[in-house]
Amino acid sequence: MPIDPDFPKNHAVIGKSKDPLSDNYHIIWGPGKLAEAAFDENVKADYVARNEEIKPMGIHGTFVAVDWDSCIADGICLMSCPVKVFEWYKNPGKVLRRDRADYTDKANPVKEADCIWCMACVEVCPTKAIKVDQANVEIHEKEIASFN
Ligand code: F3S
Ligand code: F3S
Repeated sequence: MPIDPDFPKNHAVIGKSKDPLSDNYHIIWGPGKLAEAAFDENVKADYVARNEEIKPMGIHGTFVAVDWDSCIADGICLMSCPVKVFEWYKNPGKVLRRDRADYTDKANPVKEADCIWCMACVEVCPTKAIKVDQANVEIHEKEIASFN
């Protein structure tokens, strides 16, 4: 199932995440659900190799939002973004496919504010895990402010 287009209404804020390489924060929305990642053979194999259980992770980001339960670590979004909004969660600062830690890795939207709304990431993601919406900037700002 692709990312829920109405996730800010249908989900709650469950945390915020800091980019390990900058002072940027993004919101995490939940609850998550078992979706494409839980049924993908590459992802499942790498969870088994790590001896870890696949658990719901939720949606990272608000105006550039990635549903981590649908992200199968394809990597095309990281390489397609002209302004490098995304990096690998488990390999910060890196954006190439060969840089993914393994298929348990995720596209981390660490530079939402740099988005120029080109929509390349939305179009290329094979599981439609990404929603980009300028209308959600205000929601992001309100939620981030509530943490301070
Ligand atoms: Fe990049 Fe996607 Fe924005 S490709 S510029 S994050 S719409
Ligand atoms: Fe994940 Fe889709 Fe990007 S599967 S790595 S969000 S292209």
